[in-house]
Parts: sequence; C-alpha cells; structure tokens
Amino acid sequence: MQEPHLRQDRIPQHVAIIMDGNGRWAESRGLDRNDGHREGLESVRSVVRGAREIGIQTLTLYAFSMENWNRPKAEVTALMGLLDHYLEVEIDEVMENGIRVRAIGRLDRLPPGTRSAVEGAIEKTRDNRSMDLVFALSYGGRTEIVDAARRLLRDAELGEVDPEGLDEKTFASYLYAPDVRDPDLLIRTGAESRVSNFLLWQIAYTEICTTDLMWPDFRKPHLVNAILDFQTRERRYGLTSAQVGGRRGGLGSDS
Ligand code: IPE
Ligand code: IPE
Ligand code: MG
Repeated sequence: MQEPHLRQDRIPQHVAIIMDGNGRWAESRGLDRNDGHREGLESVRSVVRGAREIGIQTLTLYAFSMENWNRPKAEVTALMGLLDHYLEVEIDEVMENGIRVRAIGRLDRLPPGTRSAVEGAIEKTRDNRSMDLVFALSYGGRTEIVDAARRLLRDAELGEVDPEGLDEKTFASYLYAPDVRDPDLLIRTGAESRVSNFLLWQIAYTEICTTDLMWPDFRKPHLVNAILDFQTRERRYGLTSAQVGGRRGGLGSDS
C-alpha cells in the first residue's frame, strides 16, 4: 500500500525515532507512568506497520538508553517486561511482513530473559528482507563510540589497522551496525528538541523533525506527516543550494 500524497522517489530509506513522552502522557491522565509505556507499544505497532507500508527500508527505534538504567527499578523492570511482551506478541506479524529484527546497544546488560527474547527474534527473522527494524536497547551514542574505539585499538595493536591510515569509513565499520546507512530522518516526539545520546556518529547530516505529540499519541498518520516535512527539506551537506541542484528531500550522499 502506497501513501498517495508522499513522493515515492523521496521516501527516506532510514528513519530513526526517539520515542519520548510516555510518562507525561500517563501522568497528564492521572495514570501510572507504566500505563504510558504500555500505550506507547500501540504506537510502536502502528509505526512499524506504517513504515513497512510506506516502503521505509530501516526503522530504528530508541527503546531504552544507557541513562534509562538509572530510572526507578520498578520502571526499568516494567519496560523490560513490555519489551518481552512485544517480541512475543508481535513476532508472527513481524515474520508475515518479512521484517528483520536487529538490535544495537549493550545487550549484555539486559536481564537474561529479555536478552534471549531479543536474540530469539533476531535469529528467527534473520533472513527477512522487506524492512530492518532496529531496536536501540541499552544504547548510548557515546558508549557506542567508545566500544568502537576499544575494538579499533585492539586491532591496531594486532597490526590489523594502521593508525595513520584511519579514516571515517574505517572508524564507522567498528560501530554496532556498520551496514546500516545513516538515518535520513530523525523524529523525536515528546516536545523536546534534544538528541539524548542517540546515534551521535550517525546523525551528522540527518534531517530532524520534532513534534509536541507524546509518543502514545503518535501513529502512522504522524509518521506520514514527518516524511512530508522531510520531503520539503533541501539536503546540502555543506554545499550551496546551486551545487546540489535545488533538489529537495533527496536521500543524500551515501544513497
Ligand atoms: C519514553 O518516555 C520511554 C523511555 C524513555 C523508555 P519517557 O518515559 O521518557 O516519558 P517522559 O519523557 O517521562 O514523559
Ligand atoms: C530518550 O528519552 C531515550 C528513549 C526514548 C529511549 P529520555 O526521556 O530518556 O530522554 P531525556 O532524559 O528527556 O533526555
Ligand atoms: Mg522522556
């Protein structure tokens, strides 16, 4: 199914989303924060389905940050439980839709049950090709860069990398998912305009779209609106408008 009003030649290939505002959504209704997380799962369902229908190739969802480990234990436990629940309930539809589940982050920090649910979903969907669904879990952008540097230094010690020849492409090959292109579009819900340690390396030239909607209120039509906004942008990558030919909403230098 195609969205009639979206330009098919300017669909962002990789959309990344900071799903923020679950707690405030719940608190404004006199509910528990965890009710907000639960309702937020409905948005995940809608947006995953929508992204696939629109023809997005990669959808990265920021589900849990390194900093989120410092939240009250009960909330952390509830979030992990919801993740287990999502993977269990959605896996059939994910398979039917040919979606490949992936994850970036310090998965070794997840509770064993959650970790095996994530790894099980990755394994089960590994041959699917219609869309990559990447969960950023126990993820921090700075941690990712430090983890990359650590492995790079080890390889340099082994003589497999020449420090003098190090370039951006080689460095990026040490990140968690080096085959995933940089996001074309980053959406943040929850009325905040900050990056909160998400994909710091990868968003160097990503178009950013923020919305006052809290994540539980964000559904497929809002994703379509964000893409319509993206399609009006001129991506210049430091060049002049004339140099890029005044093209709007293009996919960029690495497409
Ligand atoms: C996003 O909603 C979910 C996670 C960070 C896991 P929040 O829980 O941050 O909701 P607010 O920002 O407190 O409203
Ligand atoms: C960002 O939201 C992390 C996720 C959406 C998983 P936060 O609610 O943790 O971010 P801050 O604290 O407002 O920056
Ligand atoms: Mg928040």
